[in-house]
Amino acid sequence: MRNKVATAALLAGLGLAGTAFAETKVGVILPYSGTYAALGNEITDGFNFALEEAGRTADFTIVQEDTEVKPPVGLAMARKLVLEDEVDVLVGVVSSGVLGAMRDFVDGAGVPLIVANAGNDGATGESCSPFITRVSFSNGQVNRPMGQWLFDQGVSKIYTLAPDYAAGHQMIAGITGAFEAAGGEIVGGEFTPFGQTSDFGPYLINAQSSGADAIYVFYAGGEAISFVKQYGSFGIDTPLYGSGFLTSPLYVAAEGEAAVGVTTGLHYVPTLDTPENVAFVEAFQAKYDRTPSEFAVQGYDAAKLLMGAVDAGATDRASLAEAIPQVSYTGPRGPLMIDPATNNIVQNIYVYETVMGDDGTLTQKVVDTIEAVQDAANGCEM
Ligand code: BEZ
Repeated sequence: MRNKVATAALLAGLGLAGTAFAETKVGVILPYSGTYAALGNEITDGFNFALEEAGRTADFTIVQEDTEVKPPVGLAMARKLVLEDEVDVLVGVVSSGVLGAMRDFVDGAGVPLIVANAGNDGATGESCSPFITRVSFSNGQVNRPMGQWLFDQGVSKIYTLAPDYAAGHQMIAGITGAFEAAGGEIVGGEFTPFGQTSDFGPYLINAQSSGADAIYVFYAGGEAISFVKQYGSFGIDTPLYGSGFLTSPLYVAAEGEAAVGVTTGLHYVPTLDTPENVAFVEAFQAKYDRTPSEFAVQGYDAAKLLMGAVDAGATDRASLAEAIPQVSYTGPRGPLMIDPATNNIVQNIYVYETVMGDDGTLTQKVVDTIEAVQDAANGCEM
């Protein structure tokens, strides 16, 4: 790092401040095994894709570590990347539980972390840090807008289900608070053992018999696939809603026809008809032969923030931490900026229905847009 500072000083002396030099060492910390492995791989692809598209792969040295979706493993890997590999910046984290476990270490070490998924509300709320910038979403942000939206559709009673860990609790708190504030009633709900529930039958039966107008859930990855398939095979007729990870384009094909008609809210869908998104989807498809999901976009935007910070002249941990939240741009998901009060992203939330496309594959029909959703400071003092 000393060499980099000297090089930066040299470039500044030459009037070339902001010119990419040497390499920025990036610790990519994601699940490559466990229930969120597919999400980790997709974020990695999105991140690498942005560097390649910009012709900037040579500017960054990447060291990858697997969190296994386990908080103690995530913390151990963060320590290894920062203390042994001496990375300049961390990018990643899928699970809110892992982010919670890493937070104090990242803050204490003074190493910038670009959160490319984990929605843990506390990380940009009461436990915020100038070293943590989130370019994905917060758990409250994705679900809160759905409270009023559902009530406006005539839904007055909901039953909730989610995995029993930080993200499940925060996502459900987001929807239930907003739904009750709108005038709705929560008639019941359960939290299912995280990563260990293969039979959702008993929970679906309780939801069906609760008298709710709708079931509202958060599930992602392998759990989302199992849940939606079982919802279909049990023939439940209470309509299903949730946060959009439930029917992510990453794995909706594995859910099959059971996903048709499920309506959810999310910060990105690949069918957005904007020039930025159309170009992104086309280029991503050409490279990976599949439609990008929200997880790919989160990785892509994490790389955009990192490149933007380096281009602004950031050279070390402290200057990267300062420059990263200042990057804003309009990308695949629409306008994106980081709220200086919390370091959480401000972005649109799209309500989308999963529908069968003309070609017989599942696709996303955007039915509403809630613009520029921003979290309250929630106790954050930067
Ligand atoms: C979370 O743990 O924050 C999370 C995991 C998967 C999808 C969305 C959120």
